[in-house]
Amino acid sequence: MPYTPLRDLPPKAGWRPGDVLVVLGELFGRGYANGIVDEARRAGMTIVGATVGRRDADGALRALAPEELAQAEASLGGRIVNVPLEAGFDLEPADGGGPTPVDQLKGLKAGDWESFRLDWDAVTRSREAGARRFDRNAATFAEELERAVPKGANVLLVHTMAGGFPRARSVMPLMTRVFRGTGEKLVPSAALWGSDLGKLWAAGFEEVTSRTFQRLVAATAPLRARAGRVRYVAYGYHGCEVLVGGRYTWQSYVPYLQGWAKLALERAAEDAWNEGVRCTVFDAPETWTNSSALFLGVEVALYPLLAALRREGPGSPVPAEVEARCRALVREGATLEAHLERAERYLAAPELTPLRELATWPQHSTPEQMEAMLAASAELLALSADPRNPVCAELSRAVVAAVGRLMFDAAWEPSAPVRWLNHDVVARRLVTPGA
Ligand SMILES: NC(=O)c1ccc[n+]([C@@H]2O[C@H](COP(=O)([O-])OP(=O)(O)OC[C@H]3O[C@@H](n4cnc5c(N)ncnc54)[C@H](O)[C@@H]3O)[C@@H](O)[C@H]2O)c1
Repeated sequence: MPYTPLRDLPPKAGWRPGDVLVVLGELFGRGYANGIVDEARRAGMTIVGATVGRRDADGALRALAPEELAQAEASLGGRIVNVPLEAGFDLEPADGGGPTPVDQLKGLKAGDWESFRLDWDAVTRSREAGARRFDRNAATFAEELERAVPKGANVLLVHTMAGGFPRARSVMPLMTRVFRGTGEKLVPSAALWGSDLGKLWAAGFEEVTSRTFQRLVAATAPLRARAGRVRYVAYGYHGCEVLVGGRYTWQSYVPYLQGWAKLALERAAEDAWNEGVRCTVFDAPETWTNSSALFLGVEVALYPLLAALRREGPGSPVPAEVEARCRALVREGATLEAHLERAERYLAAPELTPLRELATWPQHSTPEQMEAMLAASAELLALSADPRNPVCAELSRAVVAAVGRLMFDAAWEPSAPVRWLNHDVVARRLVTPGA
């Protein structure tokens, strides 16, 4: 995959009232998709959403109930096509009878993860059943969506789906050891990845994070035939350049186990592009979201945005405004300079250089790296007055807004199936006035 960062701000897009923005995935308070939805609202576009549906107590997947739908539509500010678009197969009974993967995991004991064996025939049949269900629901979704799109209107479809961890209680302690473990507690990600459990996670990630994109592009082919300009964008992750030692430097969160699924997402966009579908995966910077508590350390790369804003906007009031908002969150006695210094100490640590290589991404964790990353994360979060609303949350809001605007504009006349959005262009977006 060639490295294709977006270096220049794209011109303002031509989306207008009557055009439709479709969110493929649910919209959460801190989610990335809020940025592009806000842009669409500003442009007067009609917003249409999706749902993953809900699971009843007996495990059956269903559409949203009327109250759930009303609430979801109110928070989206648009209509939701109420067809359950949950992807994956962890709760899917094996085709022809058999346990779901989560049923199989009921037998997992905390210490046994390495020797635990899955019935792969049953897993494969669950995976196929899950894929068929998703395809069926995607087709129904696409038919209903078509009815919501006025003839000739332009459509921007925004893929935000990611996930696929098996929803089994027995897996939670292992997840904690992989993503937050140090010393004896750490399970190195390569060891997990080689196990049956790791292979199940990988398959789940692929179904949810990349196959959904392929399947939704296929399901919406009839829409492309009758609408105006139809564009697809998706949120990728493939590391991000941030300022380290005064230079924009590529780095990545480790262990990013969804990385292989994100690579498949990039390939899916490339394949669709080669068939004439205009779609772009935007490899987006790290943010602080609902799942950040599990992936502690991902947010360390957000702090250098403060330096990027100063670098890109010396004459702009924006860096000072963002800093003032951040300073309001800092605990007494701490400074933003201390944040920058501590983040840099981790991001520049020479012993972690082998993990900062784009060509060998995604990297597996090492004990030294986990120790260094989690210590940096904890020390940085402790510099904020309220750990639930830390400085990185404010920076994250800025990133979400800028990325939304960049994707919204770039999608109008896309130039490649994959584009990295690094701190340089994100900061430049933030300091460059409006229109
Ligand atoms: N948070 C980050 O640091 C970061 C960085 C780069 C890219 N991204 C990407 O941005 C996108 C949005 O993530 P976010 O961080 O805003 O979190 P989020 O939790 O707000 O979004 C996750 C999305 O995935 C959907 N989803 C979850 N499980 C699903 C399933 N089984 N089937 C179908 N859909 C499912 C949810 O409905 C939601 O729309 C994701 O693709 C994520 O990988 C996030």
